[in-house]
Amino acid sequence: MPKPLSDSSKNRVHLFGRRKGKRLRGSLRQALEHDLPRIRIDADTIDTPCDPSQFFEPKPEKVWLEIGFGGGEHLAAQAKANPHVGFIGAEIFENGIASLLQQSAAAALKNIRILNSDAREFLPMIGDNSLDRVFLLYPDPWPKNKHAKRRFICRAALDQMARIMRPGAEFRIATDHAEYARWCLRHVPIHPAFQWVISGPQGWRQRPEDSIATRYEQKAIREGRTPMYFSFLRNAG
Ligand SMILES: C[S@@+](CC[C@H](N)C(=O)[O-])C[C@H]1O[C@@H](n2cnc3c(N)ncnc32)[C@H](O)[C@@H]1O
Repeated sequence: MPKPLSDSSKNRVHLFGRRKGKRLRGSLRQALEHDLPRIRIDADTIDTPCDPSQFFEPKPEKVWLEIGFGGGEHLAAQAKANPHVGFIGAEIFENGIASLLQQSAAAALKNIRILNSDAREFLPMIGDNSLDRVFLLYPDPWPKNKHAKRRFICRAALDQMARIMRPGAEFRIATDHAEYARWCLRHVPIHPAFQWVISGPQGWRQRPEDSIATRYEQKAIREGRTPMYFSFLRNAG
């Protein structure tokens, strides 16, 4: 059995969002029970600060992190297209984790590790200048003002990102939520460590060419919402 999501780790924060959905059966349950323990990063037992390349064998030259990978389609596609990069996916929703495990097994991917706990607790455990790219795709927007403090993007998270991302590393955010887009633009580019990179006035409308639409993005398009894509670079120094 995979180790349950425990409540005893070092930097415990209050978790927003659900961990379980429809009861898992068959191959999804099997994936969770048999495959997760082999590629799981156990935030409760790692020595900190950690070098995230240590989770892979052999050690990759680059490590990319996807926060809240949902069903894992984007992460699996990136891992397949970039076999020399080590991918860490952070997700709390069990059904999404099982889905990624299945895709990873089907494509025999060796370069994925999964953190099945809150990404906000993991960031402080990562050593300085360790990540080469971070994806935050369609984060929960928490649209009500009274819930704004639950949004992933905040000064504390950006300070951690600034510390753990290498100079020149890219931080990609996508959202279909206009207020969340404004929120990102009010927070990320004003952080001294990040600059917004945009190719032309409509650049925010174009999904990066090396990327695929996530499940959530496909749903947003079906329902008539407009995806927005932001790329921020970690400044040197
Ligand atoms: C709106 S969904 C988007 C999923 C996926 N990125 C997509 O575009 O299809 C947001 C996801 O982030 C996950 N999530 C939210 N907060 C998280 C956290 N602190 N750490 C890890 N995952 C988180 C949720 O469980 C959910 O699956």
